[in-house]
Amino acid sequence: MRLRNKPWAKELIAQHPELIQVQPSHFHPNFEKAQPLRLEIGTGKGQFIYTMAQQHPNMNFIALEMQESALAVLLKQQVATPLPNLQLLVANADHLVDLFSDDQVSEIYLNFSDPWPKTRHEKRRLTYASFLTQYRRILTPTGVLQLKTDNRHFFEYSLMSMNHFGMHFAELSLDLHHDTTAWAMTNVTTEYEDKFAAKGQPIYGVRATFESPLD
Ligand SMILES: C[S@@+](CC[C@H](N)C(=O)[O-])C[C@H]1O[C@@H](n2cnc3c(N)ncnc32)[C@H](O)[C@@H]1O
Repeated sequence: MRLRNKPWAKELIAQHPELIQVQPSHFHPNFEKAQPLRLEIGTGKGQFIYTMAQQHPNMNFIALEMQESALAVLLKQQVATPLPNLQLLVANADHLVDLFSDDQVSEIYLNFSDPWPKTRHEKRRLTYASFLTQYRRILTPTGVLQLKTDNRHFFEYSLMSMNHFGMHFAELSLDLHHDTTAWAMTNVTTEYEDKFAAKGQPIYGVRATFESPLD
């Protein structure tokens, strides 16, 4: 998804270095409190992460997105009604281990990631082995990788990829919006999720850990 360029975005971003970091070599936390850190990769315009930060003031959240014009929409909201536990980061997720320290993150969210269906683009999928290797490093040992998608092929690919890493599937859903699990009942939706659900498409989801609870 490429968003149209927003002429006001660059100036707004430049005015708020306390809220948003652009292509830093390392992410420097600027939260009010030191508390567990959760990271969304490919935030888009930020509906999910803003709501999560509102609902969980005892956690810190980072919205990571490579398109400035998408993240600028969330920045506008954060400037209007700031949440002290939300920071924004313009960066490509392909170098997460430079941005974050080992064991720094307790939960990672992949919401409706671009599926990159062509085999020659496999390396761009956010559940390709090179990404999982980095998630394993920056997540705490009991940290969770949560993924939601409308795309059956990308979901199957992601499960296979995680399985190759020996990941443990703590929760799995083939129709999250019609499940009655605790996850389904407290699910916070994204912009894409709302669109797909409105068309009646099932939402697939998984919550996985690199270490099994039995390890
Ligand atoms: C299909 S959109 C989904 C947006 C939002 N998560 C939602 O569910 O409404 C995928 C987003 O991921 C971002 N993205 C894709 N690959 C990325 C990467 N390697 N690093 C950072 N962001 C990425 C894209 O720029 C795009 O905004």
